[in-house]
Amino acid sequence: MNRDIVCIGAGYIGGPTMAVIAKMNPGRKVVVVDINKERIDAWNSPDFELPVYEPGLADVVKETRGRNLFFSTDIESAVRECDIVFVGVNTPTKMFGRGAGRASDLQFWESTAREIKRYAKSDKIVIEKSTLPVRTAAAMESILNTRDGCKFTVLSNPEFLAEGTAIRDLLEPDRVLIGGPQDEDGIRAIAEAAAIYASWVPREKIITSNVWSAELAKLAANAFLAQRVSSINAIAGLCEATGADVDEVARVIGADGRIGPKFLKAGPGFGGSCFKKDVLNLVYLCESAGLHTAAEYWMQVVKMNEHQQERIVSRLFKEMFNTLAGKKIAIFGFAFKADTGDTRETPAGTVARLLAEEHVRLAVTDPKALRNARADLAGVGGVEFEEDEYKAAADADAVVVMTDWSRYPQLDWERIYSNMRKPALVFDTRNCLDARKLKSIGFKTVNIGK
Ligand code: NAD
Ligand code: UDX
Repeated sequence: MNRDIVCIGAGYIGGPTMAVIAKMNPGRKVVVVDINKERIDAWNSPDFELPVYEPGLADVVKETRGRNLFFSTDIESAVRECDIVFVGVNTPTKMFGRGAGRASDLQFWESTAREIKRYAKSDKIVIEKSTLPVRTAAAMESILNTRDGCKFTVLSNPEFLAEGTAIRDLLEPDRVLIGGPQDEDGIRAIAEAAAIYASWVPREKIITSNVWSAELAKLAANAFLAQRVSSINAIAGLCEATGADVDEVARVIGADGRIGPKFLKAGPGFGGSCFKKDVLNLVYLCESAGLHTAAEYWMQVVKMNEHQQERIVSRLFKEMFNTLAGKKIAIFGFAFKADTGDTRETPAGTVARLLAEEHVRLAVTDPKALRNARADLAGVGGVEFEEDEYKAAADADAVVVMTDWSRYPQLDWERIYSNMRKPALVFDTRNCLDARKLKSIGFKTVNIGK
């Protein structure tokens, strides 16, 4: 067996994960392939204008690209020459037919399995990096192992990194999970996969399990995190109705060692490509297993999240004299969280569309996500896109902060105030600004859960 690796799928997961694996395993060749030529060209761009924005990523790619990390569209050669194949293609929610709106769409994933089968000339370890429904590895194996001459062992190694902190999460993971068949081949393959990570991750953090546990643990971990966000957002509404302060409540809840302080920040609801998709996938799996009460339980996590964005618009109505038509609202931040340009499932998109339906004039600004924002809102009328926050807020009736970019508290809010229409409103849906300071300037302020 050679030590070389190929990863099929050069997206948010494939690119950063393989860059770090290459950095920490200089003796291995790592090739990342994709059918999307534009994406591969961007990964190879001479000025490191990479297709994914992540703090620290460009430095890792600068160190490794051309040394032992390569990006290519030549899937055939890459698969043929490597013995370890990671699969990190997209697995979005299926929008048609059986399971529409809940199940994972596995068409990209299945075509990858067929590509591996077509191009392989020797035995391979195939490692699922994508997040997949439980028992997908069985389907993968039955597609692959219909071929004579080559033996394929399928492992599940789901990725737990969060966007915006991907490089840190990869370099210092809480855990690495590798699931595999509990037979001789499987145990040998798990050891091969563990060796990749063991070059920088302490052995005690590398957890091994059977394949189904690994597949389900990934979905369950995301569902638990999403559920915490929905839980604190449910409390936020009650805080607004009662005079309690959600940040104070969260501090008290989080001080309980059994609960812990992380993931208790009330806000506009969770976005990103993973939480909604993975919770819906869990709902579908529960339904398929006849566990309807469990399915309903998880479905509420998604419903609560959608409700949070509707609540933001309702509060804007209330604070802006019950009419929004013709008013200008500046949306500060379009990315689903700070430090990423990713706008998939971003709450800012939902709020922008709801406001556009009310004939609001929108100005959207974001330091990294403006290109994606333009594409997402292409069909929505009355939207201007501004890199400069001061221009975005000029003549606006309200600023709605949707992403907690660290630059926003540093802005010259007196200057912003002086160019806005009065009464000038700031709705800080992330509770990231100094409300007392804004009030002293003259702003009317609204916060989530206060
Ligand atoms: P992405 O859309 O950014 O990237 C997927 C890439 O796969 C695309 O570039 C696409 O062109 C490529 N692709 C699709 N079919 C292909 C094929 N047949 N051959 C070659 N390339 C093909 O998606 P992503 O965000 O990287 O997510 C990938 C998987 O990782 C998903 O299952 C997701 O749930 C999981 N995941 C994502 C994150 C995250 O933070 N984005 C975190 C954990 C897990
Ligand atoms: C998530 C998981 O954290 C990660 O382990 C998995 O691999 C992929 O899905 P990601 O979606 O990139 O990562 O970001 P995350 O930091 O989890 O935030 C998700 C959403 O929840 C964001 O919109 C964020 O703003 C929101 N959030 C998070 C809150 O509203 N409050 C919090 O306390 C934490």
